[in-house]
Amino acid sequence: MSFSIRRIRPDDGALSRGIRLRALSTDPLSFGSTYQAEAAQELRFWSESAKRHAESEDCAIFIAFQQEEPVGLVRGGRDATRPGCFFVHSMWVAPEQRGHGIASALLKRVEDWIASKGGTTAELMVTDAASVARHLYEGAGYVADGYTEPSKHSGVVEHRMRKPL
Ligand SMILES: CC(C)(COP(=O)(O)OP(=O)(O)OC[C@H]1O[C@@H](n2cnc3c(N)ncnc32)[C@H](O)[C@@H]1OP(=O)(O)O)[C@@H](O)C(=O)NCCC(=O)NCCS
Repeated sequence: MSFSIRRIRPDDGALSRGIRLRALSTDPLSFGSTYQAEAAQELRFWSESAKRHAESEDCAIFIAFQQEEPVGLVRGGRDATRPGCFFVHSMWVAPEQRGHGIASALLKRVEDWIASKGGTTAELMVTDAASVARHLYEGAGYVADGYTEPSKHSGVVEHRMRKPL
């Protein structure tokens, strides 16, 4: 199965809205946000987000495509309070494309970007409901540090994991 990955572009607002809302609707227990909250945002919100994540030194979104179809995404963002620490958020792959290494490739891509910006630690939160994601992260070298917090939107618990880059 062939796929490509590229950084989001400034004019990808509608594209990123589509794939993010699909992620929130198919896997509502995997994320710290809701379909309802993000679907309520106007296109301008998504356009500004795309521009920021395309151009910033502090945050980036990478999108996986199969041919022209977006099939996965991940976001990286600098923690302004802790030098060298970046968050990895929003990992998602379309259900019909899972099990072909797309998430592993997205993770590697965002980690490479983080390292290129001087990042030394990648940190993420993974919910109890996302057992495949936890497997993915453990396989990539992330270790749970014991910190947990309840999800703001559901009954699941979020676990913090970290990886030195
Ligand atoms: C987690 C997710 C991103 C993985 O995407 P993917 O492209 O299928 O992952 P990959 O193909 O790169 O596989 C990564 C690992 O998970 C394993 N895996 C994939 N699908 C699996 C499944 N259904 N059951 C068990 N293991 C699975 C793979 O075998 C691989 O492990 P390995 O390296 O030991 O072989 C995808 O399942 C998803 O979008 N889930 C819902 C959203 C979510 O949980 N996001 C994470 C938020 S923190």
